[in-house]
Amino acid sequence: MNTKAQGFSTTAIHAGQDADPATGATVVPIYATSTYTQAAPGQHKGYEYSRTGNPTRAALETCLAALEGGARCLAFASGLAATNAVLAQLRPGDEIAAAADLYGGTFRILEKVFRPWGLVAHYTDDPSPDGFRRILTPTTKMVWIETPTNPLLQIADIAALADLAHNAGAILAVDNTFASPYLQQPIKLGADLVVHSTTKYLGGHSDVVGGAVIGRDDLMQAIQFYQNAAGAVPGPFDSWLVLRGIKTLAVRMDRHCANARQLADWLAKHPAIARVHYPGLPTHSGHALAKKQMRDFGGMISISIKGGKEAALKFLTHTKLFSLAESLGGVESLVGHPATMTHASIPAEIRQARGIDDGLVRLSVGIEDVEDLRRDLELALES
Ligand SMILES: Cc1ncc(COP(=O)(O)O)c(C=O)c1O
Repeated sequence: MNTKAQGFSTTAIHAGQDADPATGATVVPIYATSTYTQAAPGQHKGYEYSRTGNPTRAALETCLAALEGGARCLAFASGLAATNAVLAQLRPGDEIAAAADLYGGTFRILEKVFRPWGLVAHYTDDPSPDGFRRILTPTTKMVWIETPTNPLLQIADIAALADLAHNAGAILAVDNTFASPYLQQPIKLGADLVVHSTTKYLGGHSDVVGGAVIGRDDLMQAIQFYQNAAGAVPGPFDSWLVLRGIKTLAVRMDRHCANARQLADWLAKHPAIARVHYPGLPTHSGHALAKKQMRDFGGMISISIKGGKEAALKFLTHTKLFSLAESLGGVESLVGHPATMTHASIPAEIRQARGIDDGLVRLSVGIEDVEDLRRDLELALES
């Protein structure tokens, strides 16, 4: 199927999802099989063993590669398994340049798994090209960014950082989890690899954990070898859930963005709020850049509540529609406290130096009716 000329939703619903060749099933079946019967040794229909390949997973991989504009995609058992597969392409003695504001689990794998293995990570608080230039060394092999970042919603210039990385002989990997391919396609802006926690917007319903890597064919060959050799693959049911979620990504994201924009405008004027981090606000330092490289500004908002930790914890336990929970990107609204939840794996002094203060609260704005969400936040703030 030629997906090049198609719109985003058409690709989301059709890429990799032709009718099942065996039965005509219109929806890709859940191929719950670990193995495949061969006519003679080595004579098979493209599948031998489901760690190596599974048709449901293959449909998801084809679809995601098309949505991100990459040559290939490989699906993993979680976002961190995908991150692990990318980092494992580096070698002991290599260095990686990363933005300081990043998902706590990514920081943890860099510091607690890969540093002892010999990979050295340098972090910049300034996600501009100049900030990254200052931490590049002759042995930097990869630049790693999220944009928008988790949890401060900073914006990094993907095209400029791709140039910077390439001129330094490195590659650029972008964790595109917060934006999803509907809002931003890093490969089209020059990135070499895109990483996803498909647990979030791609799955979209908080009912599955998964990950994916998308990129250039030459880079993906080594990652495919690693996927099979290390084996952190998603099962067919999980692959199917993510594929089903992807079909409605565009309509969900439009609503996430519209709801978040309205709530961010309202929160910015609220007397109990010290600061709102949302790239859609004209006052946000990354607003112009986000406008340039994103279709819309996303569904994530972080707020600093006046009164610090005590006020934040009170607020968190008084929302009714916003569930106090880890994760993000589902249809239901979630609220979290980065300092004690998603970013607890970052030591307190580093966390605070990076602006993740104890009064910071992260909102994953769902697709409920926005007036109900506003009222829920208002009642919790009054508490
Ligand atoms: C930006 C980002 N990247 C990666 C991950 C890790 O994904 P997973 O929890 O699916 O392993 C997360 C999880 O919260 C995340 O927010």
